[in-house]
Amino acid sequence: MTDNCGRQITYLRISVTDLCNLRCDYCMPAEGVTKRQHSNILRVEEILEIAEAAVELGIRKIRITGGEPLLRRGLLDICKGVKELGIDDLAVTTNGILLRDFAEPLKNSGVNRVNVSLDTLKPEVFRKLTRSRGSAPELQNVLDGIDAAKLAGLTPIKLNCVLMRGVNDGEIEDIADFAERMDVELRFIELMPIGQAKDMWRERYLPNSEVIKRLGLKNGVQRGVAMQYGRIGLIDPVSRAFCPTCNRIRLTADGNIKPCLHSAREIPVRNLHGAELRGALTAAILSKPEAHDGLSGDAPSRSQRGMNKIGG
Ligand code: 5AD
Ligand code: SF4
Repeated sequence: MTDNCGRQITYLRISVTDLCNLRCDYCMPAEGVTKRQHSNILRVEEILEIAEAAVELGIRKIRITGGEPLLRRGLLDICKGVKELGIDDLAVTTNGILLRDFAEPLKNSGVNRVNVSLDTLKPEVFRKLTRSRGSAPELQNVLDGIDAAKLAGLTPIKLNCVLMRGVNDGEIEDIADFAERMDVELRFIELMPIGQAKDMWRERYLPNSEVIKRLGLKNGVQRGVAMQYGRIGLIDPVSRAFCPTCNRIRLTADGNIKPCLHSAREIPVRNLHGAELRGALTAAILSKPEAHDGLSGDAPSRSQRGMNKIGG
């Protein structure tokens, strides 16, 4: 359906868990998140009921996110059920750690493609950024996961790289080379002042104009929320708000619709059915703000949830 600003809302992102097997310092609190009681998290059937109602209202594309979605029990049932709703595109965003084992099953469950988060190619930077200790997952697991996703045909694969000053800004060229060698798409995403990233945002934020300069990118075309330069996409939530082309709503793992990533507004949809559920989804879409008020260190996101509870 169309929102109050004339935007066609065709894209639903479903967060299926808050939990993650990494602790990226800009996303997760160091202590992780307390595992919620099972009863606080939507059951598979509840997710599918909400997704079905959303499809009835015009959703054509669904992305499964987290936390880390591959940790969610019942994930493959969610994917199969969503696929059966007859949408154009079903995608998953993952940190890649478990992707080697999940690539085939995801493909067989109707998933078309995956986005894999890859902020660094240096094992020691990866360890530091993900605050990993001891026998924690390694960068190599992610690289193996990307290989497996290619083999399974979860394409086009997109790598998501959040660019951060003093963390990975020395790797722009290397990551671009890697994506080219791997024959996958790459997207640089500006760090947003939201959740854990609020405090470090001033030191770490780098506008994507840095990527344009360093890689000599030319003739970008706008595609959805990204500026596309060949197989490199730039997502600039801070330096170039893309709210006018925003076509999405989000469902949290505990059953709330977020009409805007950066707004505090949430509409509870748990335990609603039929016309009531469709009514709540419609109200959520109609309450989607025209734009966020600009993101900066002084005016961070108004979202009450950090990224680990929204999934991007
Ligand atoms: N700004 C931009 N992107 C973020 N992500 C997590 N936190 C932020 C932030 N503050 C990204 C992750 C992952 C995706 C789900 O969201 O790196 O790629
Ligand atoms: Fe890192 Fe993604 Fe996990 Fe956040 S959800 S801690 S970005 S892997």
